[in-house]
Amino acid sequence: MGSPVNAVGLQDSFGRIMGDLRISVTDRCNFRCLYCLPDTEEASNFYRNQQEDAGSKTAKRLIRYPWKPKKDILTFEEIERFTRIAAGLGIEKIRITGGEPLLRSGIADLISNIRAIPGIKDVALTSNGFLFRRYAQQLKDAGLSRMTFSLDSLDADNFEKMTGRKGLQDVLDSIDLAKQLGFDPVKVNAVIIRNLNDHELEDLVQFGKNRQISMRFIEYMPLDHAKAWQKTMVITGREMIDRIQSSFDIEQVPPSNPSETAKRWKHKDGQGEVGIIASVSEPFCQQCNRLRLTADGQLRTCLFSHHEHDFKAHLRDGSADQAIIDQLKTVVWGKESGHKIGHEDFVQPDRTMSFIGG
Ligand code: 5AD
Ligand code: SF4
Repeated sequence: MGSPVNAVGLQDSFGRIMGDLRISVTDRCNFRCLYCLPDTEEASNFYRNQQEDAGSKTAKRLIRYPWKPKKDILTFEEIERFTRIAAGLGIEKIRITGGEPLLRSGIADLISNIRAIPGIKDVALTSNGFLFRRYAQQLKDAGLSRMTFSLDSLDADNFEKMTGRKGLQDVLDSIDLAKQLGFDPVKVNAVIIRNLNDHELEDLVQFGKNRQISMRFIEYMPLDHAKAWQKTMVITGREMIDRIQSSFDIEQVPPSNPSETAKRWKHKDGQGEVGIIASVSEPFCQQCNRLRLTADGQLRTCLFSHHEHDFKAHLRDGSADQAIIDQLKTVVWGKESGHKIGHEDFVQPDRTMSFIGG
């Protein structure tokens, strides 16, 4: 029987070794995606129309989000220290997320400091793309090479319905600029939701092909603030790939590493990739090597955890690194085997993606 103390690096009780840390740098966002922070009348209407019993708890009014006060948000120094300790225990890949990470001022400095930490091999950033052009060159100069954008619709009205903002052209321009500046890869995430943007699936694939971009189609997960998610709204990965295969000549690509979340296909007659992230219908928990640090310094061992582990306290109470190392090893050892979406006893976590970070 093993134990966290003599575990190699950050190993859990199922033998999985953590290599990937996602850091949310802010819980705030300038978008209101209806699968995350639904806020508009249109978002309410969408959910209401999907309900068999209209007027139930999910048919909600506009929501005011309880953003965390600034004093509760980790400083860059605290994030860098945590990352250095985690890197000493085998974390190699960092993804900076939010909320919208570009709302945090000085983000390029954080990235260059994280890149300089021994052991960190890869730093990526996920953004909704609205503010990217303002910071693109700084981010590039800071040594960021990998960009992921969110883009769920190519139709201006539908884009606004899904994100709560008029911003399609800004996001398209950001994606083009990222390609021009040589970010590689440039990935685009699209959450596909039945009766909302599923009719745009083929157009989004074509968009990726034209621009030689990696498209990632994501199943809608129960992480929305309104808790209005329903299984019927999920277009499964199987359904998506069947449709894509009937319109495009694609072939599957073998995984580049075992903990990859997306199953990938490439176009036989062109460039750009199609990835499917089927977290709901085909969970990949058995290979999960990811940890998530929330903006307020809580470590989550799973997107769907009900339990968070407070690291802010140790980062602020003068504890030595060893105390944080011990806590980290113990927390990772207790990582849950996987999520239970679809099981009768599944309970949606209280925090949305905007807090947890994708
Ligand atoms: N289901 C699936 N994906 C989601 N994202 C945010 N909320 C959800 C959800 N409920 C995605 C965003 C972003 C990434 C960080 O997570 O589209 O691209
Ligand atoms: Fe949309 Fe991401 Fe903002 Fe959530 S955090 S509202 S998914 S842009």
